Amino acid sequence: MVDHYIGLMSGTSLDGVDAVLVGFYPPGQPLKVVGHVHQPFTPTLRQEMLALNRAGANELHRSSLAANALSRAYAEAVSVLLRQCALRPEQVRALGAHGQTVRHRPGEFDGTGYTIQLLNAALLSELTGIDVVYDFRARDVAAGGQGAPLVPGFHAAAFHQPGIDQAVLNLGGIANISLLSADGRVMGFDCGPGNVLMDLWCERHLGTAYDDQGHWAQGGSVQRELLANMVTEPFIQRRPPKSTGRDLFHAEWLDQKVAGVPFNNSLAPRDVQATLAEFTCLAAQQALQGALPTARRLLVCGGGALNTHLMQRLADLLPSVQVATSDTAGLPALQVEATAFAWLAKSCLDHQPGNCPSVTGAKGHRVLGSLHIAG
Ligand SMILES: Nc1ncnc2c1ncn2[C@@H]1O[C@H](COP(=O)(O)OP(=O)(O)O)[C@@H](O)[C@H]1O
Ligand SMILES: [Mg+2]
Repeated sequence: MVDHYIGLMSGTSLDGVDAVLVGFYPPGQPLKVVGHVHQPFTPTLRQEMLALNRAGANELHRSSLAANALSRAYAEAVSVLLRQCALRPEQVRALGAHGQTVRHRPGEFDGTGYTIQLLNAALLSELTGIDVVYDFRARDVAAGGQGAPLVPGFHAAAFHQPGIDQAVLNLGGIANISLLSADGRVMGFDCGPGNVLMDLWCERHLGTAYDDQGHWAQGGSVQRELLANMVTEPFIQRRPPKSTGRDLFHAEWLDQKVAGVPFNNSLAPRDVQATLAEFTCLAAQQALQGALPTARRLLVCGGGALNTHLMQRLADLLPSVQVATSDTAGLPALQVEATAFAWLAKSCLDHQPGNCPSVTGAKGHRVLGSLHIAG
């Protein structure tokens, strides 16, 4: 017997949505990714989602329409994926849909705070004819947690190997690390920016969405004063549990760090890019060495795993650790996070907890997600 679920993930990079069809087998057997589709966002949707990350006019109206547009993009990805896998909607138990984070302020303001993932899950269920599990983060935040990262539980289920201390680093827009101890203990937290700052610097100076394979950064030289300004960011130094987003790592943050360097007018854009790449790697290295110094292996996933410069610098900074993409452990780098949301959807329908309180700081284990029944 196999249960099919679809995971739908669109992260802070705002590059589009990844949809994976996952087959879950009886306990003890590994899950299998049957198909994967990446559907890029239209420039209009991307721009609006980006704008909604900051306070602006008429946000309720605009975010409702953006949620509708996002749900149509998700539904299109599901339709392409089902065609590719030759499956009908009724053969899929549920969709696990993350939605688009536009604010992430857990524990702030009134002590509870909030995290907002835009999605019209009712519309997604209407368009696909499939049950939808969504709003995964809210329950953990209600239980006093960060609501993030939610993937360590899945990373442990997919990658844990008895007898070896290892970590999984997801380099999405933001970077998060999962620490998987040999004895089965799981820790994790957001450790800094992944690609978000590099992407915006590329867009500004090259007009490209990202630095393909990190070639541009690789040819620049790291500016030590600028790097020191970045590393002293309080979020990097703060102890876990912790999570972040574009709320912190945005264009003004970067401009402020650059402005803090004497003679910054003479900083070459390429050198800033090299410094940003180094910052991403250094934050990950600090996180790993601080939280699980005995780790022997680091599996890298997310789009940043395709950045060969980042992969090389991580390997250089962690000489005693085997640094490799998650592909080497059986799950392609671009499929890991979406597969996690298929797993979280299954956990919800199985009434199993999806969060790790040791990661998020929540008061306890909680079943995550809300549900729309397709009918
Ligand atoms: N070939 C590549 N070279 C360098 N970076 C890449 C490449 N492909 C993707 N990326 C980076 O990965 C990002 C997307 O990663 P992803 O895991 O989807 O993040 P998110 O979960 O935030 O959407 C892109 O914005 C880009 O920065
Ligand atoms: Mg993405």
